[in-house]
Formats: sequence, C-alpha cells, structure tokens
Amino acid sequence: MAQCKNNSNSIKMEGGSPLCGSVRIQGSKNATLPIMAACLLIPDKCTLRGCPDITDVACMGRLLESTGAVVETKASHFQTGIDIGINAGSISSCRLPSRYVKAMRSSVILMGALLGRVGEAYVDYPGGCVIGERPIDWHLSGLEKLGAQIWTEGSRIHAYVDELKGACVNLPFPSVGATQNIILAAATAKGTTVIKNAAREPEVTVLCDFLNKAGADIVLPESFWTEGRLIINGVPLSRLHAAVFDMIPDRIVAGTYMFAAMAAGGNINLENVPIEQLCSVCAIITKMGGSVVCNPERKTLAISVPERDKLKNMDFVETDVYPGFPTDLQSPLMAAAAIAKGELTIKESIFSSRFKIAEELRRMGADISINGDTAVIRGAAALTGRNVIAHELRGGAALAIAGLAASGITTVSDISYINRGYQDIVGDLRCLGAKISYE
Ligand code: EPZ
Repeated sequence: MAQCKNNSNSIKMEGGSPLCGSVRIQGSKNATLPIMAACLLIPDKCTLRGCPDITDVACMGRLLESTGAVVETKASHFQTGIDIGINAGSISSCRLPSRYVKAMRSSVILMGALLGRVGEAYVDYPGGCVIGERPIDWHLSGLEKLGAQIWTEGSRIHAYVDELKGACVNLPFPSVGATQNIILAAATAKGTTVIKNAAREPEVTVLCDFLNKAGADIVLPESFWTEGRLIINGVPLSRLHAAVFDMIPDRIVAGTYMFAAMAAGGNINLENVPIEQLCSVCAIITKMGGSVVCNPERKTLAISVPERDKLKNMDFVETDVYPGFPTDLQSPLMAAAAIAKGELTIKESIFSSRFKIAEELRRMGADISINGDTAVIRGAAALTGRNVIAHELRGGAALAIAGLAASGITTVSDISYINRGYQDIVGDLRCLGAKISYE
C-alpha cells in the first residue's frame, strides 16, 4: 500500500479527469464474514484464502478469538488480501464481547454457529451501518424453529438448546443474514431443515459451498433458484473437517468501480470479477451509454466511457434481492446518475433509510429529492469539489465516486466507514488513474 489508510480519517481527490488503468477486485466481505462464522462449527483448522483485509474481517476475527478459536492471518498468496487460518478445535466461551458484536451486523450469525457447536450463545443486538431499521426477528424465530430457547437479559440475547432439530422454516422475506444464520444452526442439527423463501444471494450459496467442502450436506435443488427452497441435511459435528477455501471476489466493490468509471469517464479494466453476479449492473451501465466487455474465462471486465457528456439516465431503477439490482450499489449509482443527462427515479426496496448520501451530493451540486423510499435525481449536474462526510459504507464510497466526477478538490471524511468494506479504495482508484490520496 503506497500510503497508510489506518492513520487517516479522510481521503482527498482532485476530480475532473477520466480514469484509465487496471485493478484486481478484492475478496468479498459479505461472503468472508459468514464463512469465518462457519469455521466455529468445525473442530479443525480451516484456511480461507484471498479474503479482504478490512476492519469488519478483523472484527470477526476478534469475535472468533473470544470463543477460544485461534485465528491467524498472513498476506495472501493471491495478489491482494489475506489468508486466514481459523482453528476452532477448542471452544471455551459462548459469550461474545459487546464491543465487537455492536461494531457490525454480521456478528448476529455467530448465534447459529455457536448454537450448532456448543448449544448456547450470549450476544448483544448487533450493530452495522445505519441504513434503516435492521431487526433480527427472522433470525431469532428461525433458530427457535430449530429448537433454541431465546430470551433477553438486559440488552443481551441469550440462546440455549439441548439439541437442535431440523425443521421447516418459512422466511417472510429472503433475508440474507437470517438464511445464513439458519444454515449455520441447521448444518449439524438432527434431521433435515428446509428453508422456504431463502435468500439466493451469492453470499448464501458460497456459504453452502464452503460448508459442503467441510463435510456438511446442504442441497440446492432446482426450486432453490425459483422459490428459494434450501435443504440442509444435518450431519454430526464429528463429520465436519478441515477445508481450504478460495474466497469469491466482491461483486459490490467491482460494481462501485464500474460506477466510478461512469462518473469520471475513461477506460478501465477490472480483474478477478464475478461477472455472472453483475448482470443487473452491466445492463444499467449499458443502458446509460457505457460500454461493457466481459471475458468470463479470464474473469475480466472492461468499461469504456469515451464521452461522459453523452451518458443518459434510465427512467427508473428499483433495488431488489439477487439477481436484481443490489441495494449496496444504489448509492454508487446515484453518484453516477447525478452527472448523466435526464431524470432517474430510484426506489429503495430493501432498506428503509439508505439515502443519506443525497444531502452530501446536493452540497456538491447534485439535484436530488427524496420522498420516503424514492429518490429522484435530475442529472447533468456540474459537480464541484467540497468537504463531505461518509455516513455509512457504500454511501461513503459513492462520495469518492462523486469526487472523481467533480471539478476541483473533494475531501471525504470519516472514512472508517469505507474501510469496513474496501481494503484500499485509494490504492485501487489510483491504479485506475485517479488523483487521490489518504489524508
Ligand atoms: C446483508 O445484510 C448484507 N450484509 C448487506 O450489505 C446487504 O445490503 C443486504 O444483505 C441485502 O443484500 C452482510 O452480508 C453483512 P437482509 P442483511 O437480512 O443480512 C429486513 C453492505 O453494505 N429484516 O437481507 O442484514 C431488513 O431490515 C451491507 O455490505 C427484518 O425485517 O440484510 C431489511 O429491510 C449493508 N428482520 C431486509 O430484511 C430480520 O430478521 C433485508 O435484510 C432480518 C432482516
């Protein structure tokens, strides 16, 4: 890393120049976190290769260590990121420290893993980005269906079970985290669990792939892809064993840089891209006037935006569950839409309050109005560099995109939010030719 992100609170960029260059996409945050949690189930050493070196992963590492697991990291043998060794051979505690639980949302899925491994878990209500109401009722009711007793003690949740038993869990909505939590609890439950309306995000299927590699018996029938029917045949804990697993690339980081190319213009190449997971994003970029060339064999994707002034907004985009347009890319799209011609209406269907970036973008000159779950972006704005503040992870990254499109200097402060999910956004954007540095 050319500069140190750890001591920096802000990033500074000079916008207005097109991007040009290549960057390798980091491993997926939202795949790494549940797979790390899954390692708690396995009384043997697992190695996860090519994980992102980000603060959320470090936080999950601390949580695993608090249970007695041994966590070791080293620079990855891939070109970026870290390899993580997790040995949960001996678990001595099921009480997770509040400090780390409250630091991120993914801590909640340790409940399923701890129930599966030792039949008990003490956790706080989890934290995470403030993007609207984020209840965990479906997590808790799913675990209860498998036999767990769950009650609150002050601000803490205590879950206990003598023996988890397979059950049919019908989710009211295909929640990613609830699906993952139930999978973790069901993997070693007695009998078969069927999840109906399970989430179909890649971060769910890759968790199943990892667990199956480690000896679990999880089946994704045809009906998984049509109606989210997922079958977990519980196996005894003793059947789970060591596994070495290569992390999938991060589709949201790739999508962020795709929208950066749209906002700044130019030609960029992305390497290690999960192309098949980005169909909805490629469709939007093409409709806006960008050109996308994919090479699935090499896992590369090239975006070319020769004339940024000719970009045109689509009329309407709605965020949706996979394979729809991801809510995590809604802010990066908003930043790019601010400079494209025409009016875009975005409906945010997943989270209730994920438009915090709009106010910061307005300060840079964007014309955006918000009404409940709907944002209207009247494009073709000439953005001007300003001092802006990251309020959450993806919104913060989107402000960097806006800064690249703006004339003059933009400073984005509170970048600890961005560091939760982007290993080195400054280094990556510099590889793409941006004039950007940590401050
Ligand atoms: C995961 O969050 C991701 N986080 C999010 O990414 C992502 O935006 C989201 O899935 C949707 O794709 C991680 O993987 C760590 P949900 P999760 O449960 O699991 C409601 C990022 O930027 N709900 O699918 O928390 C919930 O409030 C992050 O990387 C309940 O009502 O998402 C939301 O409206 C942000 N009760 C909707 O379901 C519940 O018990 C979808 O949430 C659970 C969820």
